[in-house]
Amino acid sequence: MSGFVSFIGAGPGDPDLVTVKALRRLREADVVIHDRLVPQALLHEVAAGAEIIDVGKAPRRHCIGQSEINWLLVDRARQRRNVARLKGGDPAIFGRLAEEIAAVRAAGVPFEIIPGVTAATAAAALAGISLTERGAASMVVLATGTDHSGQLPAKLDWDLLARADATLVFYMAVQGLPTVTAALTALGRDPREPALLVERAATPQERIVPASLGDIASAARDAGIESPAVLITGPTVGSATALMAAGRLVARSASAVAV
Ligand SMILES: C[S@@+](CC[C@H](N)C(=O)[O-])C[C@H]1O[C@@H](n2cnc3c(N)ncnc32)[C@H](O)[C@@H]1O
Repeated sequence: MSGFVSFIGAGPGDPDLVTVKALRRLREADVVIHDRLVPQALLHEVAAGAEIIDVGKAPRRHCIGQSEINWLLVDRARQRRNVARLKGGDPAIFGRLAEEIAAVRAAGVPFEIIPGVTAATAAAALAGISLTERGAASMVVLATGTDHSGQLPAKLDWDLLARADATLVFYMAVQGLPTVTAALTALGRDPREPALLVERAATPQERIVPASLGDIASAARDAGIESPAVLITGPTVGSATALMAAGRLVARSASAVAV
């Protein structure tokens, strides 16, 4: 007999952007193991007496290692406790979920995954754009802007990304932004294509920086954009940049309103 692990998507920052099932599991949990970027208000939903463990990791400042997180999941489940593993956004998008699943599976611990709102869709909602659009973008690519060592991910097919009839969304986008945009434009993506950098979407600190793909790295640097932020580039972004240029897209906490 063992406990159970629920991998739960905590959404991008607004505590209202979680599922009913996620809330239910948090309230039932005996142990909550959470990342740095989860909305703190969600932790108020946890029952009194439950154990809360912060394994938050800041960029380049790892607090608790991945193997220790894996160990905690298995250890607490083996104590026959219900574990809520709360991860920012959607747990299955750039969340090292595969490693945690492998650990609980190897230990024979039953688990479930409760999806969440990922940064790409939260940022698109804030900017008032659709990530796909008939005739403009028939594909969405969620890519990482840096690999585990902080470099441009060598395994990405940059030729394909440069040519794709797609909206491209880069996570972990701030550090490598000049390199990412240079790689895309050098391989043929139009430097005049509209792009956005969306910082802390769905939080009170959210900001959007619009610019062409060729200029977005310097615009982001001038605006002092910091992690967490996503880069969105592609033809469907144009409607947001046009609205913003005309002063008609007003970013508000947790939503953007075109007036
Ligand atoms: C380790 S990944 C986790 C992604 C998360 N699992 C998700 O589905 O959104 C962290 C990256 O997600 C992006 N991110 C997370 N929350 C964000 C937010 N509120 N606004 C913009 N980008 C965000 C940033 O690119 C950040 O560097």
